[in-house]
Amino acid sequence: MTVTAILSALAEEQQGLLEQLNKPQSVRHGGRDFWLGELNGHRVVLGLSRIGKVAAATTATTLITRLGVNRIVFTGVAGGVGAGVSVGDVVVAAEFVQHDMDASPIFPRFEVPLYGKTCFACDPALTEMLLDASRTALAETEQGQARLHRGLIASGDRFVSAADESRGIQRALREAGLDVLAVEMEGAAVAQVCFDFGVPFAAVRTISDRADDQAHVDFPKFVAEVASGYAQSIMTNLFRLL
Ligand code: ADE
Repeated sequence: MTVTAILSALAEEQQGLLEQLNKPQSVRHGGRDFWLGELNGHRVVLGLSRIGKVAAATTATTLITRLGVNRIVFTGVAGGVGAGVSVGDVVVAAEFVQHDMDASPIFPRFEVPLYGKTCFACDPALTEMLLDASRTALAETEQGQARLHRGLIASGDRFVSAADESRGIQRALREAGLDVLAVEMEGAAVAQVCFDFGVPFAAVRTISDRADDQAHVDFPKFVAEVASGYAQSIMTNLFRLL
């Protein structure tokens, strides 16, 4: 039996999904409230990771070890840093890196020690479905200008809110041969937990800001007004494909 978790960082991102959940039932573990139920005939668990890599990692671990989840999809928002990644665009992750991981000179910068890995890849088949679902959702929500991207997302325990900092992250990753599209604060942690447990993982992020000097204004506005509708529409389409 497949049990799919839909994990979001913020309540606003989860709200629309919760309204759609059939036979909802709440459970509490490790300081988190989870919602069990059905979406389009599939067993699902809705969870809020809260913000940051530690909170996301513990939430993912609870989903897998306590709630029997064997597939995780993350939906949320991110700051666009790649060229042409604009507010309102959707980025589906191909893989994740931690932009604040640095155990150099003992290990190469960005490499996760003792894994011999810098990037954690998303599940290819689930990611393909998420791309299809996002394409349909963008068409349905009449986001004419919005573009769909697929590529590397970087996570770190910082809200990136200055153009200089955003450029710095981009430059450092490029020096390591990595071309980043967006930054957020949870995905790489969930990707690593899913790697540890052999659980398929995919992630979609809507661009709420450009991780620049305007980010602190753009982010809350987008989260309040747009994020929930996007998440709901993308997940509805994904569960039609699963
Ligand atoms: N999530 C959304 N926007 C972000 C930003 N600018 N930095 C980190 N995480 C984000």
